[in-house]
Amino acid sequence: MLGMVFTEFVEMVESAFSSELADAMLVAAKLPHGGSYTAVGYYPHEEIVRLVAALARLTGEPAEGLVQAFGRHLLKVFSTAHPAFFASKVNAFDLLACVDAEIHREVRKLYPDSQLPTIEVIGRDAQSITLQYRSPRSMEALALGLIEGTGLHYGTPLTITQSKARDADDTTLFHVALTE
Ligand code: HEM
Repeated sequence: MLGMVFTEFVEMVESAFSSELADAMLVAAKLPHGGSYTAVGYYPHEEIVRLVAALARLTGEPAEGLVQAFGRHLLKVFSTAHPAFFASKVNAFDLLACVDAEIHREVRKLYPDSQLPTIEVIGRDAQSITLQYRSPRSMEALALGLIEGTGLHYGTPLTITQSKARDADDTTLFHVALTE
């Protein structure tokens, strides 16, 4: 996993909780390198799982909710770093529809070893979009937070329903609708 995911995660913990708690999390996760991440390095995916588990233990909050909050945080980081790109999409559905073909495609060009999910659009109308998320890393809580963050960015209240695709363990469907 790309180092910036880890550096952003640690920063979120520092600002949402405290730098003492972020340090305690890094110690509790017992990482081989002691938790010194560089943004352009690559680290095993298990390390984010260990950090989240350590944070959940230290705060008493459920791991899924922490990852979801991290997704919302990450979307804010991305939209601050690439404002023109976000401005070029008129609404949340347009942004969500281009993750695979535009956003992650660019990410892959810049970071050939990045590990990205597929986010396929399997349905869309004026009121909703249905996305099929597939990843061996099963980070649906992160996807959910990123989708929520997208709604917040465009100021569009979204109702997001998550379901498992039949016979496909690594696949989750997100039905994202304008809140009535
Ligand atoms: C401008 C917006 C975005 C940027 C720049 C971006 C970039 C990235 C980067 C750099 C990673 C880490 C790759 C790695 O660790 O090797 C990543 C992972 C991921 N992205 Fe995006 N992303 C964006 C929007 C989104 C959106 C809107 C979604 C959800 C619909 C999404 C879903 C995910 C998920 C779930 C992962 C974790 C890896 C996995 O599930 O296998 N991303 N993205």
